[in-house]
Amino acid sequence: MEIRVQAYGKLNLSLDILRRQLSGYHDMRMVMETVELCDDVQISIAEGDRVRLSTNLHYLPVDDSNIAAEAAETFFQELGIPRKQVTIHIHKRLPVSAGVAGGSANAAAVFRGLNQLMGTGLSAEEMRRLGLLLGSDVPYCISGGTALAEGRGEVLTPLCPLPLCHIVICKPRFSIRTADLFGRIDCTKIRHRPDTAGMVDALKSENLGQVAVRMYNVFEDVLDGKQKEVFAIKTALLDAGALGAMMSGTGPSAFGLFDDEQAARGAYERLRAVYPETYLTRNRRELLV
Ligand code: C5P
Repeated sequence: MEIRVQAYGKLNLSLDILRRQLSGYHDMRMVMETVELCDDVQISIAEGDRVRLSTNLHYLPVDDSNIAAEAAETFFQELGIPRKQVTIHIHKRLPVSAGVAGGSANAAAVFRGLNQLMGTGLSAEEMRRLGLLLGSDVPYCISGGTALAEGRGEVLTPLCPLPLCHIVICKPRFSIRTADLFGRIDCTKIRHRPDTAGMVDALKSENLGQVAVRMYNVFEDVLDGKQKEVFAIKTALLDAGALGAMMSGTGPSAFGLFDDEQAARGAYERLRAVYPETYLTRNRRELLV
């Protein structure tokens, strides 16, 4: 039995960090969005008890250090159901280590796919619980859509969907370690924070421009050295007509929202000439489950 599921990328339309928990994790307040840009995840089950993983990118791990393999292991372990041989092939299109939740989206896709293949009938909520065992962004990636994410990222409230728009995502050549960037945040010293309530209102009134001007990520204020190239990408996006531009998550990808397709295409072509990992996509309004 085989199934093919899509693992859609996520963007943060805003990202605020409220406090550091005793656990070391941080309490977040983020507005999340899903994009059409996705990885294809092909999953098949047969008799046996191993998880076998392959991808189209030779440098990605295919053992259980890959979060997609870990998701399959977790699925059987947590549900306590008889194991199967699970064969997963991931065709990656989402940039890796980029702040668009590529790994988390893959794990969420494995949960959705195995839930269907195994006929386990898990609710979205039950899959989100499994997801949190693997990472803070996985619960959001189960259903996607426009949502407020609080707590570690697992306390999710659906929001009015972002109006359909054109999005250019650009990843510079370096990567940023999530834990390093969190380590640079001192919650008592954050001077500028996003107007999350204002963004939620702008979503309610379906006003793309008002959402775009409220895009803000507190992580941008602790970027240093070559990481500041993110600002050059944001400036290029705004110069090309983006209504707003921001770094997603812990970066380093920056993205711009456009209401005009030609302007978005122009930005995409200009940036792609410098940064090969540049993508033109749209937001995806439908929930995945
Ligand atoms: O949950 P995840 O594995 O994606 O988190 C990676 C790292 O990011 C954590 O080890 C932690 O350092 C940091 N993190 C955090 N607070 C969150 C989410 C992640 O401090 N809410």
